Amino acid sequence: MADLVQEEKVIDETRQGDAVVLESGEREKKLYIESYGCQMNFSDSEIVASILEKEGYGTTRNMEEADLVLLNTCSIRDKAEQTVRKRLTSFNKIKEEKPEMRIGVLGCMAERLKSKLLDEEKLVDMVVGPDAYRDLPNLVKEVDAGRKAVNVILSKEETYADVNPVRLGSNGITAFVSITRGCDNMCTFCVVPFTRGRERSRNPETIVEECVELWNKGYKEVTLLGQNVDSYLWYGGGLKKDFEKASEAAKATAVGFAALLEKVALAVPGMRIRFSTSNPQDMLDEVLHVIAKYENICNYIHLPVQSGSSRILELMNRGHNREEYMALIDRVRRIIPGCGISHDMITGFPTETEEDHQETLSLMEYVKYDFGYMFYYSERPNTFAARKMEDDIPLEVKKRRLTEIIDLQQKHSLESNRAYIGKTEEVLIEGSSKRSEEDWFGRTTQNTVVVFPKANEKPGDFVKVMIKDCTAATLLGERVDE
Ligand code: SAH
Ligand code: F3S
Repeated sequence: MADLVQEEKVIDETRQGDAVVLESGEREKKLYIESYGCQMNFSDSEIVASILEKEGYGTTRNMEEADLVLLNTCSIRDKAEQTVRKRLTSFNKIKEEKPEMRIGVLGCMAERLKSKLLDEEKLVDMVVGPDAYRDLPNLVKEVDAGRKAVNVILSKEETYADVNPVRLGSNGITAFVSITRGCDNMCTFCVVPFTRGRERSRNPETIVEECVELWNKGYKEVTLLGQNVDSYLWYGGGLKKDFEKASEAAKATAVGFAALLEKVALAVPGMRIRFSTSNPQDMLDEVLHVIAKYENICNYIHLPVQSGSSRILELMNRGHNREEYMALIDRVRRIIPGCGISHDMITGFPTETEEDHQETLSLMEYVKYDFGYMFYYSERPNTFAARKMEDDIPLEVKKRRLTEIIDLQQKHSLESNRAYIGKTEEVLIEGSSKRSEEDWFGRTTQNTVVVFPKANEKPGDFVKVMIKDCTAATLLGERVDE
C-alpha cells in the first residue's frame, strides 16, 4: 500500500491527481461531473458542461441531488481504471435508491471498453467517447426512451473549437485552452492514440479568441493543452497525417506551434502563457526562441523523457535517444537561461535492466529536473508493448526502481528550490494556501509553488516575493516592494 501511495507522490496535483468535482451555477436539471487523469480531461469536462448547459443542466457538487452523473475517465494505467470502477460501483449503490438518476462514462475508458461497461458489467447507462460529446443531449434522450446510448466514434475533425467551455471549479485566474486532440506518436506503452484518436489541431483564431475572452474576464494565465503541443499544425482543418495531401495554398499558410505561441503572446500581452505537453522528438528550437522572446510566455517546459537508456527509448518508439535528449536540454538551458524543466519517467518497461535503470538515474543527474511525475510500467491492452513484449520486470523491482527515482527527484527538487533562497521572484497569486487561510498560494514563471503571508493583495495580482525558505515542493517567502 505504501508503494501505491508513492506512485501518487507526484508533485503537481493537476497532472495525475485525485478526482476533481466541478460546479457551476443554478439550472433546472443537475449535472454532477467528476474528472480523472490528465489536464485534457478536466478541460473536456468544461466542454461537456457547456454542451449540457444549453440543455438546461447546471452542475452540482452534491452527487445525491444530480439527475445526471458523469465520470470523465482515464485509462493511462491499470490503477486509474480500477479507481473508476470502484467509483461506478458506489454510484450504482446510490442509484438503487434513486433509479431515475442517469450514469454515464466519458473519456478514455469509454473509448477503450466501448459498450462493455454497459452490456457486460451493467455499471452505466451511457458510454461516450472523447470525440462524441456533442451527441450527449441526444444520448440522454435515448436513455430516457429506454434505449442503449453508446457513441465512441473517433473523429477526423472534432476539436470543439466553437464550444465556449463553462469554467468549472475555477479560481478565476488560471484556465486551460485545448489546442490539439489525439496523438499520432504511438509510443509503444501508451493507450492514448487508441482512446483519443488521430491527431488534429484547432483553428488558431478560435484559440486566440478564447484567450482574449479569458483575459477580458480577468484570467491571468492560460495553459495551452495537447498530448503533444509541439506537433500543433493548422492548415485549414483535418488530421495532421493528411497535411502532405493538403493544397499548396493551405501548406503555405499553415501555422505551427511556434507561430501559435507567438500569436497568443501578442494577443494577450498581460497574460501568462503556459503549454503542456512538449515532446522531445517534435520540439523545435524555434519554439525555444519564441519562449525567450516574449516576457509573458512562462519559462517552464514539461519535457517527458520516460527513460534515460537509448535502448529502452528505442523500444518505446520515442523517436530520440539519450544523447539527443541531452542536447535538447543543453539548448533549452542556453536559449532560456533559468528555465524550469520537469519530466515524466517510467520504470520497469519490458526488458529494463539495472544498467538501463542506472542510465535513467544518471540522466536525471545530468538534467537536475525541477520536478517530475514518475510511474512504474503498467501494461495497457492493445498497445504495441502489450502485443509484442513480455511485461517481464517483477512488480517489486519496478517499485524499487520507482522509489529510487522518486528519492533522487526529491533531492533535486529540494536543491533546485534551495537555489531560490535569497532571490526575489515574480509570483502570480492563484488563491489561498490549502494549508492556511493566512497565506497566499501562487507560482513563479518556472511553475514552482510559492506560499507567503497575506497582506492587502488579491488573487490575480502579480507580486514580488523574496524567498526565505523551502521544502522540496514549495518555496516560502515574503512579499517585498520593488
Ligand atoms: N503526451 C501526453 C502523455 C500522456 S500520458 C501528455 O500530455 O502528457 C502521461 C504520462 O503517463 C506519460 O508521459 C508516461 O510517463 C505515463 N504513462 C503513459 N503510459 C503509461 C503506462 N503504460 N505505464 C506507466 N506510465 C505510463
Ligand atoms: Fe502517449 Fe507518446 Fe502520445 S506518451 S500521448 S503516444 S506522445
